[in-house]
Amino acid sequence: MFDTELLDGSEGSVRRAAALIQSGEVVGMPTETVYGLAANAFDPAAVAKIFAAKERPADNPLIVHISDLTMISDIAAELPQIAVTCAKKFWPGPLTMVLPKTPNVPYITSGGLDTVGVRMPSHPLALALISAAGTPLAAPSANLSGSPSPTCAAHVMKDMSGRIPAVIDGGECDAGVESTVICFEDGAIKILRPGRITAQMLAEVNPDVRIDKGVLHAVDNGERVASPGMKYKHYAPKAKVTIIDGSREQFAAYVSRNAYNGTFCIVFDEADLGGAEVPHIVIGGTSEEQAHGLFAALREADERGAEEVLTRCPKTDGVGLAVYNRLIRAAAFRVVKL
Ligand code: TXA
Ligand code: MG
Repeated sequence: MFDTELLDGSEGSVRRAAALIQSGEVVGMPTETVYGLAANAFDPAAVAKIFAAKERPADNPLIVHISDLTMISDIAAELPQIAVTCAKKFWPGPLTMVLPKTPNVPYITSGGLDTVGVRMPSHPLALALISAAGTPLAAPSANLSGSPSPTCAAHVMKDMSGRIPAVIDGGECDAGVESTVICFEDGAIKILRPGRITAQMLAEVNPDVRIDKGVLHAVDNGERVASPGMKYKHYAPKAKVTIIDGSREQFAAYVSRNAYNGTFCIVFDEADLGGAEVPHIVIGGTSEEQAHGLFAALREADERGAEEVLTRCPKTDGVGLAVYNRLIRAAAFRVVKL
């Protein structure tokens, strides 16, 4: 049991967190997407502590975070030209590239795979921590496995207090959904997990962008998947989430017919409720706002003791695809089409 320290964003805090990492510990780290649970990617014992703290299945690989492009040669055995182009265009930023791994990357970090996901985050405290630690950091999202990802330090404290020695408070995450994960296949870019870097943005590098079928559909148990994370229960609050796919008026009518005292609504605009008095949270009308607010909204449903969450259905283009991909998993693929 740790008495988990909440560190501010000062230089002293970064030095303290870096020292913890160098001694083989795990630290909560802010990034521009969601908070991560960071440890030395090359140290199998340290990485084992990440899996233990999160209660994460061992075959779900971790993303390795770098602060400088020169670090990549220790991690990736090959760097195709298209990866270099993506790195120049999107790093630092919310893009993870799956590449063949070097023997330096232990199998515990790559979830037993011969590939590894690499990204350079843009949050200044993440960059500072990686450079101060002097090593690439393996970091999954800092939630308990299965729960909504943390988008502020308080969320990390809620899930990880007592399990890790420290969390750096870097404020609210900007994107709110995890990085876009891609791999390169048959000359195409394949999106394994959608995020803030959209298919349209990737098409500027290579017009052949494909979307893995696991992004929008449930993956059967036992099915071989490109991104192992897809097969697990994900992002789910304790409450039962249902997506209501219809117009604002249809949503309001559905809520007024079906809401009971355990219902909580996630809406884009106050007007979505048509005046119904139901506990709710407004996450905004644009896909960027919805991405920013979604995980906090799912956590708030639990804080308020909701039994059921009824949510409006996000658009699925651009950043909306990332919002829909997370929400459909939180809802265990329950959609009511009106
Ligand atoms: O934005 C993010 O990516 C955050 C922050 C902390 O950087 N990290 C994050 O990590 O979301 P995590 O572990 O929660 O999700 C990593 C996803 C999983 O779906 C995993 O299966 C996939 O990336 N992934 C990692 N390495 C992979 C690999 N070698 N091949 C295929 N998928 C991989
Ligand atoms: Mg995660």
